[in-house]
Amino acid sequence: MHKTRNDLAANTRKTVIEILNARLADLLDLQLALKHAHWNVKGPHFIALHEMFDAMTDSYDAHVDDMAERITALGGTAMGSVQAVGTATSLEPWPTDLSDGLKVVEALAARTAAAAKAVRKAIDETAEAGDADAADILTALSRQLDKNLWFLESHLQKG
Ligand SMILES: [Fe+2]
Repeated sequence: MHKTRNDLAANTRKTVIEILNARLADLLDLQLALKHAHWNVKGPHFIALHEMFDAMTDSYDAHVDDMAERITALGGTAMGSVQAVGTATSLEPWPTDLSDGLKVVEALAARTAAAAKAVRKAIDETAEAGDADAADILTALSRQLDKNLWFLESHLQKG
């Protein structure tokens, strides 16, 4: 860890950096899956899904940046390379042969829900570690994930 005048205890910072890097990997993975879906989705709902997937990718940008910059503010290294993300992500690999609209929505809903579950746990873990700011960043991300899961699941639920 880099030296910092930040007054949080070193063990708090170490714990939080690890938690945030794990969730950062999930979100960068999810953003790439959304872009893949944006480019390759097919079917009668193409334009709605194509546009929704891009909006969802963008909806995570500020949250991802907040997480990464919290890591560096705490003296850590934000792990943003494809190789680091590929190793650290907890999400199931994206099925690159998928293109049918609703199947793509289902695959994205599963990964969004998995990322949201891990973020909810991370909120409690960072709060317990003593970093209310990291918990706050994760809480904002949690709201975004839940909202996007609602958007995705609304395509799958019966009216
Ligand atoms: Fe595009």
